[in-house]
Amino acid sequence: MHLHLPGFTMHYEIYGRDTPLLLIHAFPLNCQMWAPQIGDLAKEVKLIIPDMRGFGESDQPPETYRMEILADDCMALLDAVGAVQPVVIGGLSMGGYISLAFYRKYPHKVAGLILAATRASADTPEGKSNREAAAEKTKTLGVGALVSDMLPKMMSPMTYTSHPELVMHVESMMQSASVNGVVGALLGMKERPDSQDLLTQIDVPTLILHGTDDQLIPPQVAENMHEKIKGSKLSLVADAGHLLNIEQPQRFNQDVVEFLRSI
Ligand code: MLT
Repeated sequence: MHLHLPGFTMHYEIYGRDTPLLLIHAFPLNCQMWAPQIGDLAKEVKLIIPDMRGFGESDQPPETYRMEILADDCMALLDAVGAVQPVVIGGLSMGGYISLAFYRKYPHKVAGLILAATRASADTPEGKSNREAAAEKTKTLGVGALVSDMLPKMMSPMTYTSHPELVMHVESMMQSASVNGVVGALLGMKERPDSQDLLTQIDVPTLILHGTDDQLIPPQVAENMHEKIKGSKLSLVADAGHLLNIEQPQRFNQDVVEFLRSI
């Protein structure tokens, strides 16, 4: 399905019915990363999975995709699908940054948060210059250069060596990203504000999920978020790296279903 917004058309998919759950994909992936979740979650809720601007089948405007803009896209999507009541919103990594930006801007619209493999802090100065260098490299050499640098860190070393089919699936999603999408999201993530103060203000049920073998964001970061978000639930998933929903889908789905039933 497609939502036509001013200057931008967003692709999204919906599975199941009743209570909405909006899940936002990681960088530089697209809504297909949630394929292992569809069967289990669509039995429980109306699962809404957008391609954020620049990715998947959505348009790729050449601009900086600030997390607030991406949060506005999510709000427009919820309006378009008729989600009047507050919804559970969540995402993995960049999807978590967008979820926090959404909570900051539209707290009244959030019934619960799912924060997977993500962090609340802003980029360090070194992180910011790495983003700029990666954006320049992508403009010059294309998306393939970023894929070679990032792919081995997207999953646990065990998944990387023992599950070539998963590695190929993730690689093909990454390769399909557009230059505008990659550059726009890199510059947007670079500019994202620190949200650590926001964590102490979150007053909706929150599930934090993190792979114990995450090579991009250490599990300690999830433990710190858990300490700051009152009443949050933390699930550390063994034998999973950054893309824990793909590496350990049963455990991921079970945690999410339990969380949804508890709120
Ligand atoms: C992601 O998986 O979305 C990215 O690793 C996030 C980031 O680069 O900070």
